[in-house]
Amino acid sequence: MSTISDQLMLAEHKQARQILAELSALLGAAAQPEIPLAFERKENMAITTTKTVRELAVELPHATRVFEKLGIDYCCGGGRPLEEACATAHIAVDDVVRALEQSTGNSASGNPRDWNAAPLGELVDHIVSKHHTYVKAEVPRLQALMTKVIGVHGKNHPELEQVHVAFCELAGELGGHLMKEEQILFPYIKQMAGGTGCGPSCFGTVQNPIHVMMLEHDSAGEKLREMREATQNYALPQDACVSYSTLFSALVEFEQDLHQHIHVENNILFPRAIELESR
Ligand SMILES: [Fe+2]
Ligand SMILES: [Fe+2]
Repeated sequence: MSTISDQLMLAEHKQARQILAELSALLGAAAQPEIPLAFERKENMAITTTKTVRELAVELPHATRVFEKLGIDYCCGGGRPLEEACATAHIAVDDVVRALEQSTGNSASGNPRDWNAAPLGELVDHIVSKHHTYVKAEVPRLQALMTKVIGVHGKNHPELEQVHVAFCELAGELGGHLMKEEQILFPYIKQMAGGTGCGPSCFGTVQNPIHVMMLEHDSAGEKLREMREATQNYALPQDACVSYSTLFSALVEFEQDLHQHIHVENNILFPRAIELESR
């Protein structure tokens, strides 16, 4: 007899296969599987299964969308080779490579800006205007919506209270985190990037605040995981009303934005700032 965890694993696997199929359809995939694996044709493909998820997320313009859809951690846990991350997520690595290849070759919206090459000051401004502004607007909206949904459904769905606790902790942590970035770390990075020289900082090397920010990112990632687990991947119950479903959609969107936000900081901004300081 299979255990509950076996059944959950199987359900996740089925869900991943379904998402891959949808992704292929969205990306205009031709009938499968004659595309050979990337590692079999290294001369013209940059995708290899031994590269880390983080490397692929940085190198391929749309990789983060593919990883997000498949539930592959590309920000805080992005240091693992692709093949290992796929094994953990119970997804066939060749399917993921194929989805990555398709995402690279079939973009309807054009390639997003290459933040590896953009001026650092512009990258900082982008993070604040896109991601920080979004968090500040969404946190109060989601807290109000959550209170309303718990008021109606909390009795029948005690997991909502778990989500509420984790979200409030996350919101509290993010408040201080964004303030530290906007008032201390980011102005320092912009000053370095401006080439006008930096006065003495209160934190020594830029690696010190970056280290703290990355620890806080790990904690945020953990809260997002807690909420996803408590809701069994944001599965809506049969008695869910419109507010309930709006809340879950908004939480999924919040999670996606925070993953992208952390990825851009951990994997692009911070390494570039450390490299700039070392020159
Ligand atoms: Fe940030
Ligand atoms: Fe951050």
